[in-house]
Amino acid sequence: MGFDLKKNSGNERIIGEDFDNLYLNNENLYKSDVRISEIDRLERTIALVEKYRKKINGKAKLLDVGCGTGRFTHSMSYFFNETLGIDVSKEAIQLAAKNSETVRKTSFKHTSITQVQEYDWNVITSLEVLYYLTRDEQKKNILEIYNHLTPGGFFICSFITEKKYIPLNIVNTLFAEFSMVESNYTYRFIFRKVEMVLFKVQKHIFNNSAFTNRIISQISGSRSIMKMCDYLSKLILGKKAITRAILVFQK
Ligand SMILES: C[S@@+](CC[C@H](N)C(=O)[O-])C[C@H]1O[C@@H](n2cnc3c(N)ncnc32)[C@H](O)[C@@H]1O
Repeated sequence: MGFDLKKNSGNERIIGEDFDNLYLNNENLYKSDVRISEIDRLERTIALVEKYRKKINGKAKLLDVGCGTGRFTHSMSYFFNETLGIDVSKEAIQLAAKNSETVRKTSFKHTSITQVQEYDWNVITSLEVLYYLTRDEQKKNILEIYNHLTPGGFFICSFITEKKYIPLNIVNTLFAEFSMVESNYTYRFIFRKVEMVLFKVQKHIFNNSAFTNRIISQISGSRSIMKMCDYLSKLILGKKAITRAILVFQK
């Protein structure tokens, strides 16, 4: 996202408004996102949730913090008896609620990670959200959100590990108090760069024309190109090529 994370992290109002504008101008942003890396991270997260949901007996409840327009939250209704998505963007919550009319047992609320009042969740997810908090807030809010889990519950969070976001070297301090049960990393450095260049070209030079959209979705939608780039990233850059982490912690 083109947000000024350095300047605005921690300012919930500005972040909420930035996302309102983003969602207002791209109602289908998340639904029609053609980037295979996005689809891939969602699929991997869903697989992890499914795996840990199986470890919970009986009815289970999920809280999705920073749910956006709810494309991940909606798919969770298959696994959980109750699902709540929260977000600081009013627009996101309206779209999520509108899109969830046919989805069972799912609700949405306009509020922040700093204000969560509901307790006793078996699983809490927070996908690509923590960057919008300052470092101090990240630590504080992750600790607080833990209190909202039932004993034995799972916290699953994903983030980009590049410098601007949450670099790997600070992950240990950020999550020091928790026990990690699984980590899932992607070595996607080369593919991410290719994808970013393609999207810049599409936006600035060809102004999102249908033709370039098609070409770009074909290139960035190719799993074999993605796999080849992942392989090369890992081989050439090793740990430096880790671009995303999906971490699972258990209370
Ligand atoms: C990059 S989007 C990710 C959306 C969704 N989780 C996904 O994976 O597709 C980040 C979302 O976090 C929300 N957000 C940012 N700061 C937040 C906060 N303090 N509390 C709750 N949501 C927040 C934004 O409004 C935005 O919808």
